[in-house]
Amino acid sequence: MNATESTRALEVARADPQLVVLEGFHAVKHALRFGAALTHVFAVEPAAARSLAVDLAPDLVDAFTERAVAAPQIALLGVHTGVVGIARRPAVDLAGVLATPTNAPVVLLEHPRRLGNVGAAVRVAAAAGAAGLMTTGTADPWDPTALRGSAGLHYALPVGRVDGLETRRPVIGLTPDGDRLVPSELPAGAVLAFGSERSGLSAELLARCDARLALPMRPGVSSLNLATAVAAVLFAWRLRGTN
Ligand SMILES: C[S@@+](CC[C@H](N)C(=O)[O-])C[C@H]1O[C@@H](n2cnc3c(N)ncnc32)[C@H](O)[C@@H]1O
Repeated sequence: MNATESTRALEVARADPQLVVLEGFHAVKHALRFGAALTHVFAVEPAAARSLAVDLAPDLVDAFTERAVAAPQIALLGVHTGVVGIARRPAVDLAGVLATPTNAPVVLLEHPRRLGNVGAAVRVAAAAGAAGLMTTGTADPWDPTALRGSAGLHYALPVGRVDGLETRRPVIGLTPDGDRLVPSELPAGAVLAFGSERSGLSAELLARCDARLALPMRPGVSSLNLATAVAAVLFAWRLRGTN
C-alpha cells in the first residue's frame, strides 16, 4: 500500500461511523488483545513497531510483524509511537448487559460532557473488570477523543450509548451528598451511576436509585473529577478481595 492509499484509508475510516482510528501503539495493542477486527495497522517504521511489541507486548509480536505496513507519512499525525490502526466498531448488546445479572458492576455516565473523561472512565472500567460502560446524552462514547483516552480499551468491554435504564440490577447513584460508601456493602452487579461534570446526577435518575452513596472527602472539597470518582468507586469494589 502506498502513501496515498494509506492516507486515503485513514480519511475514509475517520468519516465512517462503523470504523475507528486507533492512535498509538498502546491503542492498537489493546484492540488486538481484546479481539478487535483490525483492517489496517500502519507504522512509520514497521521494524520499530515490532521492537515495541517485543518490549511491551510479547504476546503480539507476530500480530505486529504480520500486520504493520509502512506508512512514513503518519509521522505527521504526531502520534509519538508512530503506530496507527483502523478497526471495525463492534456491535454491543447493552440491553443484554443490563438484563443479565453478573457479579461485576456496570458503569453508567449520565450525560457526560467531556469526552476525555469518558475515555478515562472506559480505561478504568476495563482495568477493574466492569461488565460494561454506558452513557446517556448526545455524546458518542466512541468519539475519537474518548478512544484516545481509553488507549484502545473500548474493545475490552461493551461500551455504548443508552436511552433508558431497563434493568433488574440494583442502581446505585454516586453523588457527593450521598451516604458514605462502604465498599463491603456495595451490592453485586450494581449499575453505578455517575452524574454530569457540572450538574451531577439528574433528579430523575436520583429518584430511580436504590441508594445514593458518596466517597467521603476532606471538608472544603466539593467533588472529584468524574473519571476519578469512577476509578475510586470501581476499585473500592475490586479491592474488597472477592474480585
Ligand atoms: C464533577 S462531579 C459533579 C459535581 C456536581 N456539582 C455534583 O454535585 O454532583 C461528577 C460526578 O462525579 C461523581 N462524584 C464526584 N465526587 C464524588 C464523591 N465525593 N462521591 C460520590 N460521587 C462523586 C458524581 O457521580 C458526580 O455527579
